[in-house]
Amino acid sequence: MEKLNIIPHDHKVNKEDRQRHKKQKPVVIWFTGLSGSGKSTLANMLEQGLYEYGFHTYILDGDNVRMGLNKGLTFSEEDRKENIRRISEVAKLMVDAGLVVITAFISPFKKDRAMARELLEEGEFIEVFVDCPLEVCEQRDVKGLYRKARAGEITKFTGIDSPFEAPENPEIHIKTAEQSLESSINQLIDLVLPIIQIK
Ligand code: PPS
Repeated sequence: MEKLNIIPHDHKVNKEDRQRHKKQKPVVIWFTGLSGSGKSTLANMLEQGLYEYGFHTYILDGDNVRMGLNKGLTFSEEDRKENIRRISEVAKLMVDAGLVVITAFISPFKKDRAMARELLEEGEFIEVFVDCPLEVCEQRDVKGLYRKARAGEITKFTGIDSPFEAPENPEIHIKTAEQSLESSINQLIDLVLPIIQIK
């Protein structure tokens, strides 16, 4: 392979300086779950809650990423991996910038989520499993995509003809078919606040 001669700069202001300045511990709160499980709803409500507490947050989700940075990527296993790899790198930059980053992607493969975790430092990656049975997601079918997938109009649809590998040890486990929205958001805020607050 061609040698690129890339030598990273050592910046004078670092992540720790920015953390002190912003009075928040930067982390990635990584939502994973089936389409229609409630990732975006919870991510948005969490952001609203944290914003009201005064935290500087940013949401990365399917709409703002797959239409821009990751435009052109498909739902093949390889492209989903690339989707998650790019998102993880962007999230890492945002953590370096001092932000509380919230990501909402299906991120169906364990190894891709593990790669995202490994890019960050210990304690910077908080995995949130938005757990909802396929039958319930399919019944909700907010975007009408499950119907299309069953009809064969969309292929490689997660849960139908593409796998979802559930996390085994997520930091936060939310069951959206059993819990109310209020209880889910309280659970999230209660677990996230002590991590990101700096006295
Ligand atoms: S992934 O697997 O993490 O790369 O997917 P992600 O970037 O989160 O994009 C998921 C959204 O894309 C829509 N969509 C599909 N999802 C799954 N499988 C297939 N084949 C597919 N085609 C389109 C769908 O609206 C997902 O949005 P959410 O918000 O999860 O419902």
